[in-house]
Amino acid sequence: MTGNRLENKRVVVTGAASGIGRAAAELMAGEGARVLIADLNADAAAQAAAEIGAGAIGIAVDVLDEASLAAMISRAVADFGGLDVLCNHVGGSNPRKDLDLLHLDLAEWDRTMALNARSTVVASRLALPHMFDAGGGSIINTVSVAGLVGDTLQCAYGAAKAAVIRLTQYIATQYGRKGVRCNAVAPGAVMTPALRDNLAAEVIADIRSDNALDLIGTPEDIGWAMVYLASDESRYMTGQTLVLDGGLTAQSPIAASRRKLLDD
Ligand SMILES: NC(=O)c1ccc[n+]([C@@H]2O[C@H](COP(=O)([O-])OP(=O)(O)OC[C@H]3O[C@@H](n4cnc5c(N)ncnc54)[C@H](O)[C@@H]3O)[C@@H](O)[C@H]2O)c1
Repeated sequence: MTGNRLENKRVVVTGAASGIGRAAAELMAGEGARVLIADLNADAAAQAAAEIGAGAIGIAVDVLDEASLAAMISRAVADFGGLDVLCNHVGGSNPRKDLDLLHLDLAEWDRTMALNARSTVVASRLALPHMFDAGGGSIINTVSVAGLVGDTLQCAYGAAKAAVIRLTQYIATQYGRKGVRCNAVAPGAVMTPALRDNLAAEVIADIRSDNALDLIGTPEDIGWAMVYLASDESRYMTGQTLVLDGGLTAQSPIAASRRKLLDD
């Protein structure tokens, strides 16, 4: 599917060699954007760019490294002549180390905060002056439903995503008058390599039965929301977190078990 919803937009997506970021980059390029695909996996980034075409460029970045993020933003500005959209998409935590509070590995807490929250601060700071030069821009942060509600495990991940949700509001508040909008997308479970590697098939089936919709999300389900937030169609929206979770967090906590009783 191709259109022109993002014609003339110059976009950077981190973590775009795989999963949701890759889908978002492809959908954005299909809507006319010039997209820089930045990923720790340089080969996969180059391959994604080649497959997407439309002038997409693939480069290596490590979002944990400030100099690497600075090189990423400079490359986008040099190649595209400026920057309009930054997607701070990389995130996650190691589920074997990010456990409940009593068993959480504190080094993993620090790494998770850096990977999800500090990287978003650093990349956004580097991007903002270029957005001001362009007369405005859109920052899109990928968070998670884990940042909205508590869970039994992965407390560093949830806390880091919650930090990014609040940071999204601060960026929106502080730079709205300069024409910069900042919003977040909060996916529930999405069928990506990360999900497949970290969760057993029965757990994924369980999540599906907990959702209000009888679905597990696809990368494109989130990618289309990112297209909207990158486009001028969302020009009156800032500081918001768009939740795309099959209705998981819209329900009363007891709805899923009630549904199972009704089904029996
Ligand atoms: N998949 C889901 O179910 C789900 C749900 C909620 C939120 N999310 C969020 O979506 C984002 C990514 O998820 P995905 O499903 O697209 O994952 P994915 O594993 O498919 O892709 C992640 C990409 O990030 C890259 N990456 C990892 N560390 C990096 C680093 N330090 N610097 C640069 N790139 C790095 C990887 O090489 C990979 O290409 C994360 O922020 C995650 O928290 C995913």
